[in-house]
Amino acid sequence: MPTVDTTSKIPNNVDLASDRRLQRALEKWQPGFLEWWGDMGPSDFSENDVYLRTAISVDSDGWAHFGHVRMPDYRWGIFLEPRQADRRIPFGDNLGTPAWQEVPGEYRTDLRRIIVAQADTEPASVEQQRMLGHTSPSLYDMRNLFQVNVEEGRHLWAMVYLLHRYFGKDGRNEAEGLLERRSGNEDRPRILGTFNEPLSTWLDFFMFTMFTDRDGKFQLLALAESGFDPLAMTTRFMLTEEAHHMFVGQTGVGRVVQRTCEVMLEHPDSDPAEHGAVPLDMIQRYINYWVSSSNDLYGSEVSSNAAKYFASGIKGRAWEEKRYEDHVALEGSYEIERVENGRLVKEEVPLRNAMNEVLRSEYTVDNQKGIDYWNRIVARHDLDFEFRLPSRRFRREIGLHAGFHFDLEGGLVDEAAFENGCPSWIPTQEDRDHVESLMEPCLEHGKIAGWIAPPAKGIQGQPFEFDYVRL
Ligand SMILES: [Fe+2]
Ligand SMILES: [Fe+2]
Repeated sequence: MPTVDTTSKIPNNVDLASDRRLQRALEKWQPGFLEWWGDMGPSDFSENDVYLRTAISVDSDGWAHFGHVRMPDYRWGIFLEPRQADRRIPFGDNLGTPAWQEVPGEYRTDLRRIIVAQADTEPASVEQQRMLGHTSPSLYDMRNLFQVNVEEGRHLWAMVYLLHRYFGKDGRNEAEGLLERRSGNEDRPRILGTFNEPLSTWLDFFMFTMFTDRDGKFQLLALAESGFDPLAMTTRFMLTEEAHHMFVGQTGVGRVVQRTCEVMLEHPDSDPAEHGAVPLDMIQRYINYWVSSSNDLYGSEVSSNAAKYFASGIKGRAWEEKRYEDHVALEGSYEIERVENGRLVKEEVPLRNAMNEVLRSEYTVDNQKGIDYWNRIVARHDLDFEFRLPSRRFRREIGLHAGFHFDLEGGLVDEAAFENGCPSWIPTQEDRDHVESLMEPCLEHGKIAGWIAPPAKGIQGQPFEFDYVRL
């Protein structure tokens, strides 16, 4: 792996300088990216110094530099984990053969589609979050938002590098398209549904980074096993950055829970909403909403595409090499449930066809850890409430359960029962109005809005009252 070049126009560790054509092509794409950032990145605050971490290497200790920087001056770069000598394809029909250093012709279309779908989510989330800076509950939170934003921008760079380097003219066209689609736009929407949903409050932002970024984590884990080596090396490094995004989500919701618990103890006989907090059952409805929306991102429970991707060695399971012994997956089956004649019936499907569901179930295990973490916060306050994950069947629009109605436990219900249940299952307009009403910015040093508790500690050893954003 060449050393990191942080001084050139595009910081990189892929020896860009040795490939003039590629370098020129990416330098041509760069102004478009910066224009997109200016138009669709965080609204305002481009003149303010923000305490950001910037990737400057891929060393496990010390890959990031922390310092105050204006967001438009952020050094978006291309960083791949070092190539493992003699890496072999770790699963599927090509198991054990050398990992591909170039795109095999027969998998070109599939690989391009997968990379574009991943790439599209990165700018989409920046667009969804662009107004949130104006209602930050603290400077600490504002900084975390901007950190997530600039890193999603870097992830776009990571994917665009692959498109430019390995997919010729098609790849360059796709890279242009990534700057043209817009989250929520009717004519040119982002590819995946969840990434077109508006994020108007910080509670949504925390839920999004907890549950939707976590879908990203699992997609990246599956791609980190890919037989296409540059994709594996790219996504491995993205995972390093991604961890912070989920930290923002999990602790963000946790701090909302914490504050609500404090208010409940201070005012045991009244509704915490009256005291400027978010009631626990309301938080639960936001969980139900974002989990169900994010569950759709994995695609259908039974999928011939997923089987094809696994067979060819393009996309594996999370922790494929570490976690599994049988990497061919031709013999196993996977139990799914589907509706037949008005009832849920169990069915065994070939394991390869169930790879989306395998990934979704790993994701669910990870989600549960967040739920447990929030429940421990409630328990510490001696309050009687438990958060729960909704069933994977709840409110699905993609896959076997789309078109049917299920309750939170996954029981099949008719449409009337579903409509009846919704006001207690997902945020109502009243809930949304209440949460919106709390979104007053709090931008004084060391201060925090009333609906959320301060963090247990600051960033990179700095105190909470540090000047994370210089306004
Ligand atoms: Fe990302
Ligand atoms: Fe992320």
